Amino acid sequence: MKRQKLLIGGREVETATYTTLYAPYSKEAIAEIADAGLAEANLAIEAAVEAKAVMRKMPAHKRAAILEKLARLLAERREEAARLVALEAAKPLKAAYAEVDRTIQTYQIAAEEAKRIHGETIPMDAVPGGEGRFGYTVREPIGVVGAITPFNFPLNLVAHKLGPAIASGNTIVLKPAPQTPLSAYFIAELLEQAGLPEGALNVITGDGRLLGEAIVKDPRVNMVTFTGSAAVGASIRAMAGIKRVTLELGSNSAVIIDKGVPIEAAAARAAVGAFSYQGQVCISLQRVYVLADVFEEFVERFTTEVRKLQVGDPLDPTTDVSALISERDVTRALEWMEEARELGATVACGGKAEGGIVLPTVLLNVPPHAQVSCKEVFAPVVLVNKVNTLEEAVEKVNDSEFGLQAGLYTNDLKTALDLSEQLQVGGVMINDIPTFRVDQMPYGGIKQSGLGREGIKYAIEDMTELKLVVFNRS
Ligand code: SIN
Repeated sequence: MKRQKLLIGGREVETATYTTLYAPYSKEAIAEIADAGLAEANLAIEAAVEAKAVMRKMPAHKRAAILEKLARLLAERREEAARLVALEAAKPLKAAYAEVDRTIQTYQIAAEEAKRIHGETIPMDAVPGGEGRFGYTVREPIGVVGAITPFNFPLNLVAHKLGPAIASGNTIVLKPAPQTPLSAYFIAELLEQAGLPEGALNVITGDGRLLGEAIVKDPRVNMVTFTGSAAVGASIRAMAGIKRVTLELGSNSAVIIDKGVPIEAAAARAAVGAFSYQGQVCISLQRVYVLADVFEEFVERFTTEVRKLQVGDPLDPTTDVSALISERDVTRALEWMEEARELGATVACGGKAEGGIVLPTVLLNVPPHAQVSCKEVFAPVVLVNKVNTLEEAVEKVNDSEFGLQAGLYTNDLKTALDLSEQLQVGGVMINDIPTFRVDQMPYGGIKQSGLGREGIKYAIEDMTELKLVVFNRS
């Protein structure tokens, strides 16, 4: 069995203890993962600090070349990477290949963005007293980036931290999710082959809370970028002090279905949005609000689509929905579904689990205070509720502590423009589900869904400091 050591300062580092990693679907032991303690966290931060000077001086074309080479190496090992994600995350192979392909693109985008990091000239004479001065800004690397990543996209959400950090000349301490460390170490190995200097990327695994706190609180870490739950995000914000923090958190994303749209196509997309990777996606479709005129037709077509989904082994290429990441999540999802039933919801399909797999579940008539509606379910469970007006639909979508992305199907241009203004989210997808992302677009939320935006160009803004230079010509 693989014995995965830490990566610190370009060296593999042994630890006193190792934790066995189990595949969520088959429950087989797949690797022994090194447990870092505070001493190793300190070494990792120290290595990142030491590597700062090399990265800061590295020209943009060289940073771009490293990222381009990484993308090429990953493309060569696409099959292996997808199998690794399928195994350790129970991500169905079809979705795992899609994630690898996106990750390659994310690093390619980062390579391109590395070449266009720049400031602007400032019209100093716009106010009296500024005459005779010439001002410009440059963007400098922020320094050491602490990256804390989740299990659900173990390659691509790591890429959304490493890509912009390397593109902008920073060094990194990465703490991947304890459930999916192998994908992170795999990328670290490729980055070494791509020519990243020693210490520019350090990977530590172990007790998540202990290592997370060590990274967040350390004054040598200049910025923390986190993807995960709102609760952990809030505690990171509270602990970080005067340090830049970006948080990409959860959601209970919704779509509105207006009348007059192609219901069959919307229903098919909704099935993708609600059940891809078992609903363990921050922008997973969790709430569907359908205008009364088309409600029955939507439910009929949607449940037909959902019943077509294949459940099973993530390594079977025909599987659409596999095991949740942990048994605790299966129990939670079942409890929340039961609560919804007690509150008057009906089960249109699914509603139970088979081993670690929660069957794709559609609930109807769910009250807003049921947990499957107002909390982030992060499981293959979606509700479909009838609404009488678009105003009512918007009110329901906005009645949420979250605000990441929302979808709206409509044929009416005025409705599209009005509702995109009214929906309280970071991104509105017209004639699509909220579960849409390409990796160059700005991505992030408002309210409890987070702070700041990812998407390489936008993350680079957070990973750099704006410096002003003013020449006095007189
Ligand atoms: C997420 O779950 O936060 C990311 C979703 C995606 O990148 O598609």
